[in-house]
Amino acid sequence: MGYRFKLIGYPIKHSLSPWIHEQFLKKSNLKGMYSIFEISPEKSFEESVKYLKREETDGFNVTVPYKQAIIPFLDEIDDTARNMGAVNTVVKKNNRWIGYNTDGMGYLRSLENKYPEFVQNKNIRILLIGAGGAARAIYFALNHSGFTAIDIANRTPGSAREISELASSSCKSNILSLGEAEKCIDQYDLIIQTTSVGMKPHVNEAILSLDRLTSDTIVSDIVYQPLQTKFLQQAQDRGAMLHYGHTMLLYQAQYAFEIWTDRQLSINDLDVKLKAVLEGR
Ligand code: ATR
Repeated sequence: MGYRFKLIGYPIKHSLSPWIHEQFLKKSNLKGMYSIFEISPEKSFEESVKYLKREETDGFNVTVPYKQAIIPFLDEIDDTARNMGAVNTVVKKNNRWIGYNTDGMGYLRSLENKYPEFVQNKNIRILLIGAGGAARAIYFALNHSGFTAIDIANRTPGSAREISELASSSCKSNILSLGEAEKCIDQYDLIIQTTSVGMKPHVNEAILSLDRLTSDTIVSDIVYQPLQTKFLQQAQDRGAMLHYGHTMLLYQAQYAFEIWTDRQLSINDLDVKLKAVLEGR
């Protein structure tokens, strides 16, 4: 019969998750399928979850807008997901649903894979731009892996402050306005853009100017449609090192697959393949 995985969310018809997990199944020589279960907002979420509980499934991913809504239906939640207040992966074990959040670790793995030496220095100065769910997950993962200086710049300072409250005692975080961040951008070794600014169709927008950027900086954008955002283009023009958004997508999926199957796959080759899929859209 093989594994049966699903994705729940809305809208998800164009999600890349089925493609990614099918690649993983092929790679691992495991039988299985990954299907989408779209739950439109007009439907009762509770009824849909009840239906899902009756279905034969080994696990599922949860995406917008249900990452919080799924929590009351879980039997268990791991610490990271609890701290995030959001779940993107559920595994069914002994008929119990256990929730995880693989986004932050996915980002960290993608970064470690691309810049392994760079991330060994835990004292690098990091600037996180944005304070939504993705920023929270990335902040938490970076903090937990021992990075000590993670500043947050956001349009709304209050949301940035809330994220910084997740910090362990060894981590220091300053809260900046977007204008302030622009002025001191040359002080950072790693800059991570986590807002949706610059996403298709708004490809000519960038959250801030990188005029003062120096070339020894890594600039990361979690937006992957387009792959080369205006933000990354500015970084490239300054000669900086780039880190593309689609790799986070791959590595958060890698971690979810590992939770479901206990297999950690080497997925370096999928970077190029996924790029081609995205460019063909
Ligand atoms: P996600 O959960 O996917 O990270 P989100 O929770 O909607 O998305 O977070 C969106 C982030 O993008 C927030 O940091 C938001 O800034 P505010 O906290 O001030 O709302 C930021 N953002 C979205 N559109 C923006 C814009 N046009 N200019 C500046 N920041 C923007």
